[in-house]
Amino acid sequence: GQRLGMPVDVFLRDYWQKRPLLIRAAFPGFELPLQPDDLGGLACEDGALSRLIEHDRARDQWTVHHGPLDEDLFARLPDRDWTVLVQDVDKWDADVARLLEDFRFLPSWRVDDVMISYAEDAGGVGAHVDQYDVFLLQGHGQRRWRIDARPNPPTGFRDDVEIKQLREFSPSHDWLLEPGDMLYLPPGVPHDGTAVGPCMTFSVGMRAPAVNELLLDAAEYLAERLPETARYSDPDLVAATHAGEITPVDLARVAKTLGPLADNLGHGGLVDWFGRFITRYRCAQFAAPAESPLDAAELTQRLARGDQLWRHPWARFAWCGQADTVQLFAAGEALPCPRDLAENLCTHAAPTFGTAPTPAAAAVLVSLVNNGQLTFAA
Ligand code: SIN
Ligand code: CO
Repeated sequence: GQRLGMPVDVFLRDYWQKRPLLIRAAFPGFELPLQPDDLGGLACEDGALSRLIEHDRARDQWTVHHGPLDEDLFARLPDRDWTVLVQDVDKWDADVARLLEDFRFLPSWRVDDVMISYAEDAGGVGAHVDQYDVFLLQGHGQRRWRIDARPNPPTGFRDDVEIKQLREFSPSHDWLLEPGDMLYLPPGVPHDGTAVGPCMTFSVGMRAPAVNELLLDAAEYLAERLPETARYSDPDLVAATHAGEITPVDLARVAKTLGPLADNLGHGGLVDWFGRFITRYRCAQFAAPAESPLDAAELTQRLARGDQLWRHPWARFAWCGQADTVQLFAAGEALPCPRDLAENLCTHAAPTFGTAPTPAAAAVLVSLVNNGQLTFAA
């Protein structure tokens, strides 16, 4: 806890994942494990994860160069408004890796990497938020950190910049960090660090896998261990009465096959996911959209003229629901649809209509034609 200025358990209880903390002289007399030139050299190595970010202050334009960087690039840089950042420096440099010894109060697998940045005066990456905790240790020179520590800060991104930068940033704190000072930030706190003269900053970043990453990987792990014979099965099947219907009994079988995952999906999620999944043909990718989209008036006109609609042979159709409007699934897409139309589309490869389609039915047909799941016979 000597780096935190307080006992570790107090830090974990009051700050970790909760609120920012500035620790003055966390690393008194900090000695650089790596010189700026070494970092520049590393940024040019094959396989090093590096970026160089230039800011054209007059036009507020940002340029990002992705590593490995070209040595010539450094030669033509101005003496301000740029920064170079290298991730995973702890993997390349044993002295840098030793910095992590001071973070042993955290599970080692929770620590991602030591990223190091070198910036010339006023250089930085702009205001942004990170999705993981970070300890920003000032290694050399001064850096001004501004953060917005208020709850629910605006998180909209600028769409004109290649790196994720905040559109709005109104700092609640403004600090000048000296070598050895360290700023801890939990995830989601907007921050902007700009160099005051040349400076080097060491970011000890945490690793927090996204839930979608965890779910996908766990599902893959489970799936790999299942025998081929483990399948959806329906020995109790009764004769289908409505073509294409996914019945409540079918859904219950799907839910049983999925086990607890079905609880996570909930009823709506289960219907939506399964309907999309089961209507994707195994080797077809996406339907080709119609070349010239049509509208409801044109569609009604063509049908009245006797033009015949066909289901695309690779598009599977199904529907689910009890009311007059059901959920129609067509080749992985889902849309609300009058029940009689859904049944018609699932029964006939060339659906026919006794009378002009209702506006609701026309809207479904227009969408299916324009998406390529239905086509007019040539
Ligand atoms: C930097 O070192 O310039 C950027 C670190 C960060 O804001 O995540
Ligand atoms: Co950051």
